[in-house]
Parts: sequence; structure tokens; C-alpha cells
Amino acid sequence: LQRTWKIAVRYWPMFLEGLGMTLGLAFVTVLGGTLIGTAFALIKLSKNRFIQLLSSAYVEAIRGTPLLLQLWLFVSIFAAINSDIPMLVSVIVALIINSSAYVAEIIRGGILSVDKGQWEAAKSLGMSNQHMMVKIIFPQAIKSILPSLGNEFIMMVKETSLASSFYIGELMSVNNIVKTATYFSLEPLTIAAIIYLIVTYSLSKLVKYMERRMRVSD
Ligand code: ARG
Repeated sequence: LQRTWKIAVRYWPMFLEGLGMTLGLAFVTVLGGTLIGTAFALIKLSKNRFIQLLSSAYVEAIRGTPLLLQLWLFVSIFAAINSDIPMLVSVIVALIINSSAYVAEIIRGGILSVDKGQWEAAKSLGMSNQHMMVKIIFPQAIKSILPSLGNEFIMMVKETSLASSFYIGELMSVNNIVKTATYFSLEPLTIAAIIYLIVTYSLSKLVKYMERRMRVSD
């Protein structure tokens, strides 16, 4: 325990920087994932059978393969195209694409969860599809979508650790660096674990609070 404390005192700026990188990566991932995921969700809900099928194939292919494999795939592809592309760029693209498939399902589920009567009522008022989506369906869907996006963020805080295979400087990379510098493995792992735990615990409390607020506003 004493050794863990000593290492924490000595290396805390690095761990802090790693945490910053982890949070930043998770944020960029969920933001990008939400933009692309929304597009795929809307396509899956559209009436065109062909692009619907393409969109489903995209979601299934991504959810059916490990994130670690996708990270290696994009790093390899980008390296083959141009070796000057920074590893971080390949990693971010892989993370965003991975997240987009999960977010697509979150958005689609949120939209479908809106009561059937609401659709019919909007239609009977003669609203256009677009108008109905923006004014009636989306404001209701967002109540289930936002907490789920919060959970996706928590998930990505942990999942970005897979990118430490490429030493991009997030928390798990820092763990590896400190391990190599000190020749101790248990101690840096303990420090990293405590940091992850504090962050994910606080964030999940926040999401729970958000969920409660959304229910009240019903
Ligand atoms: N660890 C799992 C995998 O490798 C889950 C990935 C979860 N991704 C997400 N965006 N929620 O496939």
C-alpha cells in the first residue's frame, strides 16, 4: 500500500493527463458516434429496403466483431494508405465507427419507444413526416435517448483502454508506462483502477439523476 501511495505521489500528473485523454477520447467518440449513429438510425427507420439492408449490415458487422479487432483494422488500413497518418487518428476513427453502431440502436429504440398514438395523432393533423419527427416524436424520444447516451459515454471511458495497445496516452497507456518505469505492475494498476472507478461511479450517478429528471418531466 505504501508503495502504491509513493508511486501515486510521484506519477500523479501523468495519471491525471491520462485521465484527461481518456475523457477527451470518450467524448469525441460519443459525439462522432451520435452524429453518424443518428444517420444510420434514420436510414434503418426509412422505407427504402435497400439502404435499410445496408444500414443493418453496418450495425451487425460492427456489433458482431470485437472493438480491439476494429482498432487494429483501422490502424492497419490507415498505415497502408499513408504511414504519416498519426495512430491517434486511426484510433479515433475506429472508436467513432464502433460507437456509431451502438448509438444507432439507441436512437432507433428511442424513436420506436414513442407511443403509436402520437404518430397517428400527428398524421391525422396533416403534419409532414419531417415536421412530425422534429416537433412531436423527437422531443419525446430524447428522454430515453439522453440517459442511454450517458451510459454509452461511461462504456467508452472503459473501452478506450483497448486503444492502449497503441500507446496513445490515455489512462491505461499511462499505467503501462509507469509499470515499465518502476518495474512494479500491481501498484500502477491499482491507481488506474481507482481512477476509473471514481469516474464511472460519479458518471453513473449523474445518469441516474438525469433519468429521474426526465421521468418527472413526463
Ligand atoms: N468490448 C466490447 C467489444 O469489444 C464492447 C464494445 C462496446 N462498444 C460501444 N460503443 N458501446 O466489442
